[in-house]
Amino acid sequence: MVFKVDGRIKRAIERDKRFMITTTKEDFPLVVQRASGDYIYDISGNRFIDFSTFISVYNFGDNSKKEVRDAIRKQMELLMHNAFTDYYSEGPVNFAENLLKMFPKGFGKVFFSNSGTEANEAALKFSRIFTKRKYVLAFYGGFHGRTYGSLSMTASKAVQREGTGPFGPVVHAPYAYCYRCPFKQEYPSCGMACLDYIKKYPLAKEIPPNETAAIFVEPVQGEGGYVVPPKEFIKGLREIADDNGMLLVDDEVQAGYMRTGRFLALDNFGVKADIYTFAKSIGAGLPMGVTVTRSALGDLKHGAHANTFGGNATVAAGADALLGYVRENMHRIESGIKERSGIMMKRLDAMKERYEIVGDVRGIGMMIGIEIVKDKKSKTPGIEERDRIIKEAFEGGLVLLPAGECSIRIIPQLEIDKKVLEKGLDILEEAIRKVSSNA
Ligand SMILES: Cc1ncc(COP(=O)(O)O)c(C=O)c1O
Repeated sequence: MVFKVDGRIKRAIERDKRFMITTTKEDFPLVVQRASGDYIYDISGNRFIDFSTFISVYNFGDNSKKEVRDAIRKQMELLMHNAFTDYYSEGPVNFAENLLKMFPKGFGKVFFSNSGTEANEAALKFSRIFTKRKYVLAFYGGFHGRTYGSLSMTASKAVQREGTGPFGPVVHAPYAYCYRCPFKQEYPSCGMACLDYIKKYPLAKEIPPNETAAIFVEPVQGEGGYVVPPKEFIKGLREIADDNGMLLVDDEVQAGYMRTGRFLALDNFGVKADIYTFAKSIGAGLPMGVTVTRSALGDLKHGAHANTFGGNATVAAGADALLGYVRENMHRIESGIKERSGIMMKRLDAMKERYEIVGDVRGIGMMIGIEIVKDKKSKTPGIEERDRIIKEAFEGGLVLLPAGECSIRIIPQLEIDKKVLEKGLDILEEAIRKVSSNA
């Protein structure tokens, strides 16, 4: 593919810059118009393979499945907005009931909102109400959203917080980012120094454990750089929470909904949380946030939390249709993810062997990241190189998104055609080769 910025693309970008106050738009000139399955099409008819799933939203194909769109259309004809927090309706409750079938025994209760940040705001508020405690422990590199409660827990990039403090009572600790261990140790000989740190510093010197409501954690850090912690890390957090009467809140907004090969990413670690949050893929392309609590935590007072659009009839119809598809096809989906994950890991590991600038390849299921460095020995972050790879790949017909300081996320839809997957990996490799040869 030979991509050229034509007048229409140029005008669309200029108008965006004139009217929009702030965004996180990337350097590459993608002006989307439509999408179907594995591909994104721009307004000038250029076709791109999608390894971004529109920021981790279309786990089951760009523009969702036909049965999902049909369910949405049908509900729209009947009633679009149902005022679910004030009036009763069946659709969102059907979805809640079906969703809970994906959870371990003992879950529980569901709260609907419209985004990941709201799902986490609800989890934060609920944790404080349930425990009657105020502090929260969260992690560097963690991303939980951009509204005040969630932003207080987010510590991914300083620009996201710049000029907006003070924040809520949240203390951050280092995540188990083994490729760049903050303690300059190596796993497993480190003996999980990051867990010791939590016990010896924040919980011993800063926030009294008996006043700490919850530990908020992503099972795999997304925005922070596609960082996969060792199992012991998540298990250790569960133990710390249990030993101190804190709740473990698992943010599955990016890692959840089959992305790692399991419906709940946390299941890969053999750990259960007390509260789970979802958004992105769960709405099948429409805005939805979900907070799920353990039944034993009990209920909240009438009116303790609510919103206008949570449990929206149209969104719930789409979400339920997609969940129905996932449940009916679970075995095929699981084995498909395993197979595609294998293809991706093999190709990416080979790229790591071949190119000095590919420092690390890591992931679970089809949540895979590669970290770009100046060279393997120094591990100096290859920020420019990463950005150039993404641009080169775009011009070659592949959409990728960055993560963290110098990583690239590789998150095609979970049922991507295997030939398209290989083609996308070819484009990625060609981009890495080009950037490597004039690095
Ligand atoms: C793990 C995680 N939590 C929360 C959020 C916030 O979600 P939203 O942008 O829908 O508010 C994101 C968004 O990227 C995320 O990746």
